[in-house]
Amino acid sequence: MDDLKNSHGYRYLQETKFDDQTLWRQQRLEIEPAEPYKVYSEAKKVKLPTDWKIGRSLNDILQYRRSCRRYADKPLSMQDLAVLLWACQGISGRAGSFFFRTAPSAGALYPVETYLSIQNVETLVPGLYHFQPAEFALGKIHDGFAGYKVADAALGQNFLAKAGVVFIWSAILRRNFSKYGHRGLRYVMMDAGHICQNLLLAAEGLELGACPVAAFYDDEFNRLLGLDGEEESVIYLAAVGAKE
Ligand SMILES: Cc1cc2nc3c(=O)[nH]c(=O)nc-3n(C[C@H](O)[C@H](O)[C@H](O)COP(=O)(O)O)c2cc1C
Repeated sequence: MDDLKNSHGYRYLQETKFDDQTLWRQQRLEIEPAEPYKVYSEAKKVKLPTDWKIGRSLNDILQYRRSCRRYADKPLSMQDLAVLLWACQGISGRAGSFFFRTAPSAGALYPVETYLSIQNVETLVPGLYHFQPAEFALGKIHDGFAGYKVADAALGQNFLAKAGVVFIWSAILRRNFSKYGHRGLRYVMMDAGHICQNLLLAAEGLELGACPVAAFYDDEFNRLLGLDGEEESVIYLAAVGAKE
């Protein structure tokens, strides 16, 4: 018996289709928006360098990018980390007080927040950090090496503990759902895909190894970062390290 039509995913796609007969009659959901980006005002700040450039051609980057799960015991530089963060969520344009980022976002709502498990980056104390795009800085939210907890929470994928850094992306659904309602979930996940792909390409541009990861225990990651798993929940990860 084929249960495709009983799956949540199938029903979600059916129920959130646009069609020109009903689109304009659909009632908009009453969902309050959320702040455009999160700020950890108490967190100790680390400014990121801006003196870097990716020298490799896009042609080579696309040709040679491959998921890499074996990392050398060699720290990433702060420049490397800055490039990676800029590629996934850097501010690349402004319109008044409004910021545009390196990755596109439906309605320019940017519902995805970036956290890092810093594990082997020169001059940075291992710990959990939050990326603050407006200041191009990190806010430290937890001290101490979290690599083994991260690997355990990712179904025991041990290569995550050996990475120099693990990117952990969460979604603040309210930011998007206040405009797009039920259909918004499609867009949030697409946004995350764009962000992750930018990261993977930038990593290859620096000749670093990277791997996207979506197999993880959601609430273990939420607990690790102190997120409630409702207003904000982890949706995607990627590991980056020096290639072996
Ligand atoms: C949404 C998504 C989730 C993934 N999750 C994992 C994962 O949990 N663990 C893993 O080792 N690789 C994961 N991967 C990497 C894929 O296995 C990999 O992209 C695929 O085998 C194709 O290989 P390539 O990336 O080298 O081209 C994921 C990739 C995507 C796009």
